[in-house]
Amino acid sequence: MANVAIVYYSAYGHTFELAKAIEKGAREAGAETRLRKVQELVPADIIKANKGLSYGSDLQKGLQEATLDDLTWADGIAFGTPTRFGSTTAQLKNLLDQTGPLWAKGALAGKVAAFFTGASTAHGGHEATILGLSTFAYHQGMLIMPMGYTVSGSSNPYGPTHISGGDGSIAVGEEEKRLAYEFGKNLAKVAQKIAGK
Ligand SMILES: Cc1cc2nc3c(=O)[nH]c(=O)nc-3n(C[C@H](O)[C@H](O)[C@H](O)COP(=O)(O)O)c2cc1C
Repeated sequence: MANVAIVYYSAYGHTFELAKAIEKGAREAGAETRLRKVQELVPADIIKANKGLSYGSDLQKGLQEATLDDLTWADGIAFGTPTRFGSTTAQLKNLLDQTGPLWAKGALAGKVAAFFTGASTAHGGHEATILGLSTFAYHQGMLIMPMGYTVSGSSNPYGPTHISGGDGSIAVGEEEKRLAYEFGKNLAKVAQKIAGK
């Protein structure tokens, strides 16, 4: 049985929905899973004053925050972030930037890395975010598992994605959840093989 961690940031809740679907897929494929949000960096008073941020924060209340131990525990890790100016969020990057000691020991080398994201528009930067984020895996010596076209109906070979609309009002749909779920199943299977479990 593989250990699969889903480590993500979500301000308004969309990426959280993808993360949950990936976790469900991995779990139902037999993996032991950890669904972990990363530490918030936006000051609490700013979140409180913003309806969307408060909503997203309340949704994820009680969920455990990711630690370096979650990364070393896992055989496969799905990293998720909303797209911010065509790139990853500071919140997810903040955790990745704490992994220097793991990098120095090669502690993440040979583990499977996968990525997912969301953006408000179709051309707002999904691919740029995933490709940019994937340099983390290269430097750590991780093995990247893309979605390819392996999941029936998938149209983003880089990983599960979502388009939330200019005002963020488009919820993650059933089809997007299905793709994320199947991706989670694949991640569990690949991680199990790679880990030789
Ligand atoms: C500061 C900021 C920058 C953003 N930059 C982009 C962007 O470059 N392209 C895009 O399509 N959406 C952009 N968005 C929109 C988010 O990616 C989108 O709302 C996403 O669905 C949010 O996911 P979440 O609900 O998990 O936080 C940006 C949002 C914020 C707050």
